[in-house]
Amino acid sequence: MSGARVDADMTDSGDPNDSSGPELGDFEAFGAGDDAGSESTPATNGNGEGEAAADADAATAADASGADRDGTGGGTAADAADGAGRSGTADADDDGAGGFTRYAMEAADGRAAEGVGTVSVAQGLRVAEDGDETCLRAFVTADNRDAVRIGTYLLVPYPDGETLFSRITALEYAQEFRTDDATELTARRRMREGGDGFTEADYKFVAELDPTAVLFSQGGELKRRMADRVPKPGALVRQATDADQIKTGLAIPDDGVFLGHLSVGGEKVRTAAEPPTVDYRLKDDYDAGDPLVFRHTLVAGGTGSGKTHASKNVLRQYLDRTYEMDDGRDARAGVVLFDPQDEYAQMHDDNDALNAETARRLDREGVAHGGHDDTVALVPKEAGVSYPGSGHRAEQVEFTIPFSIVDEYDMPWLVAGASLNENQFPALAQLLRRFFRNYDDGTYEEFLSFLDDPALKEELHESGRVHEATYDAVKRRVRGVPSGVFDQDAKPITELDTTLVRPGGLTVVPTYHLSSSRAKEMFVLAVSTMLVDDKLSNDPTSRRVDETPLLLGMDEAHNFLAEADNVQARKVISTFTEAAKQGRKERLGLFLVTQDPQDIADPVFKQVNTRLVLNLGDDDAISSVNIPPALSEKVPYMEKGQMVVYSPDNSEPVEVTGLPVCVTRHGD
Ligand SMILES: Nc1ncnc2c1ncn2[C@@H]1O[C@H](COP(=O)(O)OP(=O)(O)OP(=O)(O)O)[C@@H](O)[C@H]1O
Ligand SMILES: [Mg+2]
Repeated sequence: MSGARVDADMTDSGDPNDSSGPELGDFEAFGAGDDAGSESTPATNGNGEGEAAADADAATAADASGADRDGTGGGTAADAADGAGRSGTADADDDGAGGFTRYAMEAADGRAAEGVGTVSVAQGLRVAEDGDETCLRAFVTADNRDAVRIGTYLLVPYPDGETLFSRITALEYAQEFRTDDATELTARRRMREGGDGFTEADYKFVAELDPTAVLFSQGGELKRRMADRVPKPGALVRQATDADQIKTGLAIPDDGVFLGHLSVGGEKVRTAAEPPTVDYRLKDDYDAGDPLVFRHTLVAGGTGSGKTHASKNVLRQYLDRTYEMDDGRDARAGVVLFDPQDEYAQMHDDNDALNAETARRLDREGVAHGGHDDTVALVPKEAGVSYPGSGHRAEQVEFTIPFSIVDEYDMPWLVAGASLNENQFPALAQLLRRFFRNYDDGTYEEFLSFLDDPALKEELHESGRVHEATYDAVKRRVRGVPSGVFDQDAKPITELDTTLVRPGGLTVVPTYHLSSSRAKEMFVLAVSTMLVDDKLSNDPTSRRVDETPLLLGMDEAHNFLAEADNVQARKVISTFTEAAKQGRKERLGLFLVTQDPQDIADPVFKQVNTRLVLNLGDDDAISSVNIPPALSEKVPYMEKGQMVVYSPDNSEPVEVTGLPVCVTRHGD
């Protein structure tokens, strides 16, 4: 069969001939129309293109469609203007009024109609297990053509009340034989008319659809299942405008952490409800599976794309949330953020630009906003530098890293960093063991003098444990770390666990003021490793850390979690990979923010379930975030605050617009 084309007028008002509901436009011939499409005798019209059956099921289906159908569906009124061969009306319950339709686009009367067109069989109609073999197309009537976009969500009803939820994946003009523009005749006519002779209606406008899910109602509740049935040829296609249908179609949870509003092509999806937007939320309870926060989040976007703004808005939501622990307790989450640009302690403060009207709207939508009182800036103390701390009003607490953390939390790599090779690492570990055996809370300075002892070097060399050349190399490396990081005049971080992690509290660790990237790295890695260690350990040093659901955020995460060929990188990556794997069980979520997602080590990246991707220009970066092609193609065009959300265990992949306003202070 070729060519099912329906220009159905399903408007039941304004058509004097229509007294019984939806009707099928005007028919050129009649077909046996019991079973939609099955009997469509091709009506060959000279060039081999058939005008085939449009079954009455189209009308029936349209009528049975969904809750919010009001009987005015039916695409544009291709309204039988020429009065030829009217076939009569198709009653809503009548399955049998099939027929061949005639193309009567001229009559479109411009009334705003709910439908955008009808399902076409012209190039096949098939819903297949393998998506590549699916062929679902809709003819879009002329006055709806400007309204549809790639990505637009459409509904196609089945006769029994179920609905196919689908998405436009392609739009094309196809040739209509009668006005074939590649003929001598047409060309001459159009040239005569000065090129003005083209009209929309001269062409077919066809939308290719990707069926997402079948919507059906069960016990009064709308549900979804995989797209397992094919719609009727000629079925009415209309834009999805009901929030419940859209959310169900895309599997977006009703409750959870607010990320923004569902969008298509940068425009928020509009519904008939109030507010007219569709909120996108991330599942955050144990009703089905785990809260997705403990399956980890990545925010990726180029410089200035709005990562920090978006991250503040999302992180703010977590500060009011509780999670059920294994012992049945409900515990409030603590958030710890590593902050390279000194921006996040501002979450303590209100955003002056957020007015009362916006605040009310956010309240209505259940979006947390306003500065978070329980915010502490936990400031790394390094010799010779000071923290200005003028950009926010959060409380400031200084801390130092005691050298003994190297022993207590087993992180020898912290002492010598990235430059240590596989040979030197065991030597360093051995030297540290020996040192801490004699000096319980030994300091960095003490370790340096310990290494200065020529007798020790000789002894280790003689006994074959550490070659003297290796010894010297290790010593040089240890001397090479920034000298002002360890054991400064501030409280050791190991004694600040209850400040670092507070249920319902936000702790920000600013690093912008530190002297070097190595110093920043040392602070971030020491504190984060300590937290992860306590979270995962069977014998945690800090009960507070152990017992509090924790969200660990890292801006510019690529600086700390990049894969590299050295001992430190390997240890850090393995710690974070393990943390990510155990996160669900231990209630530890990673929230990574980066402009270089391609640099995040693969084993860590693989554990991240939720990806928010803002504008990214770099092809490597785009391909590294590994999101479906339909989404990744949009990424270079995202405006500030627009993102694609790929969270396969939460919903279908979608485009979301974040709040244009920051719910806490951001910037000056
Ligand atoms: N959704 C939005 N609507 C309007 N303005 C925004 C939005 N998101 C961010 N901005 C503004 O754009 C600027 C850059 O935003 P932001 O600091 O969040 O970007 P970033 O990606 O973190 O940049 P960087 O790479 O410098 O860290 C800020 O002035 C911010 O206020
Ligand atoms: Mg930023």
